[in-house]
Amino acid sequence: MNITILTLFPEMFTGFLNTSIIKRAIQKKIVTINIVNFRDYSPLNNHQVDDTPYGGGSGMVLRCEPIVSALESVKTKNSKTILLSPQGKLFDQQKAISLAKEEHIILICGHYEGFDERIKNFTDEELSIGNYILTGGELPAMVITDAITRLLKGTIKEDSLKNESFMQDLLDYPTYTKPPVFRNLKVPDVLLSGHHENIEQYRKEQAYLNTKNKRQDLLEKK
Ligand SMILES: C[S@@+](CC[C@H](N)C(=O)[O-])C[C@H]1O[C@@H](n2cnc3c(N)ncnc32)[C@H](O)[C@@H]1O
Repeated sequence: MNITILTLFPEMFTGFLNTSIIKRAIQKKIVTINIVNFRDYSPLNNHQVDDTPYGGGSGMVLRCEPIVSALESVKTKNSKTILLSPQGKLFDQQKAISLAKEEHIILICGHYEGFDERIKNFTDEELSIGNYILTGGELPAMVITDAITRLLKGTIKEDSLKNESFMQDLLDYPTYTKPPVFRNLKVPDVLLSGHHENIEQYRKEQAYLNTKNKRQDLLEKK
C-alpha cells in the first residue's frame, strides 16, 4: 500500500517513520510512505503558501495552488484523497479497516486557519481524528497512517489484531505478565492454570465486562 502525506512540516515525520512497527513495515515493503512538502509546489517567487482571508479576520489561510499542484503530481487513478480537518467525519477503527483496503491514500495536512474552502473540489473526503483543534494535520496524518499500517497483512501477527479493542465492537480483555504477584496484587488463577478453554472463556467474559463498564455505547451498537 502507498500513503502520501502532503505537509508543510516534513521534519515532524522523522521519528514516526523511523521507529518500531512503522519502521519495520516500511523496511518489509508492506507500506510505502512518501512525505511531500507542498511549499515546493508554490507558483509564487517566495514559495508563499498562505494568505490573509477574504472578508477579513484573523490568521492565514492555505492557498489552493500549491496543494492542488502537489496533489496532481502524486495522484493516480486509484488514489483516495483525504483532507484532514476537525470538521470532517470522525475517524475510527472501522474507517481504518476500510482505508487499509485502498491502494493509495493521500493525506493533506492543513495549518494556520486551515484551507481555502475550494480545496474540497479536489479531494474525496474530509476526516477528523476528534472533536478538538490541533495546530496542524501532521499528528492526524500520523494517527491515520499508524492505524492503517498495523492492519496491513504482515505488519503484526493477525492473531494479535483479532481481539483488539473495537475490532468486534468490544474492548480488549485485561492482560497480565510476570511476576505472578506484585505488591499483593495477584494475576487471576485461571491465567496461570494452563487450561486453554477456561482461559478463552475467561477472556471472552472479561472483554464483555470491560466493555460494559467502560463503553456501554459499544454494546448498544452491537
Ligand atoms: C488550527 S486547525 C484549523 C481549524 C479551523 N479553523 C476550524 O476551526 O475548523 C489547522 C489544521 O489542523 C488540522 N487539524 C486540526 N485539528 C484537527 C482534527 N481534530 N482532525 C484532523 N485535522 C485537524 C487540519 O488540517 C486543519 O486545517
